[in-house]
Amino acid sequence: MNAAQAVAATGKDLLALADLPAELITTLLDTAEGLLEVGERTVKKVPALRGKTVANVFYEPSTRTRTSFELAAKRLSADVLNVSVPASSVVKGETLLDTARTIEAMNVDTVVIRHAASGAPQLLARALSSHIINAGDGAHEHPTQGLLDLFTIRRAKGRIAGLVVVIVGDIAHSRVARSGLIGLTKLGAHVRLVGPPTMIPVGVAELGEPPGTCEVVADLDAALDGADVVMPLRLQLERQGAPLFSSRREYAVRWGVDRRRMALAAPDAIVMHPGPINRGVEIAADVADGERSTILTQVTHGVAVRMGVLFHYSGGGAA
Ligand code: CP
Repeated sequence: MNAAQAVAATGKDLLALADLPAELITTLLDTAEGLLEVGERTVKKVPALRGKTVANVFYEPSTRTRTSFELAAKRLSADVLNVSVPASSVVKGETLLDTARTIEAMNVDTVVIRHAASGAPQLLARALSSHIINAGDGAHEHPTQGLLDLFTIRRAKGRIAGLVVVIVGDIAHSRVARSGLIGLTKLGAHVRLVGPPTMIPVGVAELGEPPGTCEVVADLDAALDGADVVMPLRLQLERQGAPLFSSRREYAVRWGVDRRRMALAAPDAIVMHPGPINRGVEIAADVADGERSTILTQVTHGVAVRMGVLFHYSGGGAA
């Protein structure tokens, strides 16, 4: 699939990696590859989306995703509207749909939406003619995080196919885990999921495509054996009702990724984390800051990946 074919095949919205064929995921990664160097220029700008308007509408807190979408749009020369939900008429009771239609009425081309409700971007995609980009919906998907994680792995390892990737922790509440395992298995990786039994949904391994490419492993040390990539997840305390583990200290002992555990992985294994991190809980501080960590590289890559996504979905011409 070349770039022109990919733009034609992209569809109106980016809602979930589950919707995308492997070829389109690869094309999005290739586009990001071409755009990465824009962030290293003295003048960090290309005219690809000049005249387009991108609105960032975040109903949940965000540091990385919101700022990187803003930078990505600006580096493509789009106009950017950042809607501060706490300072908007949402607090007066305006619905999601009315808010989105109001923004669209200002001739916005693309709406980037984060919402606590799974399916909120799908609702907007059906109701609006603007392009809708999912920046994380509930525990469903976080497709651009999945893409930037794939991009980071591909750059670090030179490939995705054939790698063993271990995703550790709160799988049940993690949209990052869902997008990650779907994207990774579509591109040929093998995914091991491991964490407290209370945080591993029944049947989650069946999300791997094709069947048999994702497995649940009960023991963290066994899961890490020979792994190429280790991805501890943030404990999503804001999404957990009743406590799912007895204490942070016990969690760190049973499920935390530390130097001893990283030694069980392949000698050249990398450790990733979508951020924000709970230092000393799901990941030891020295591992997070260590030579195998790609945490800040993921952030850098996030801008290029979101540039690629905006370029494809907002109808860019030549980058
Ligand atoms: N990884 C991620 O989605 O981070 P933010 O919540 O800071 O956007």
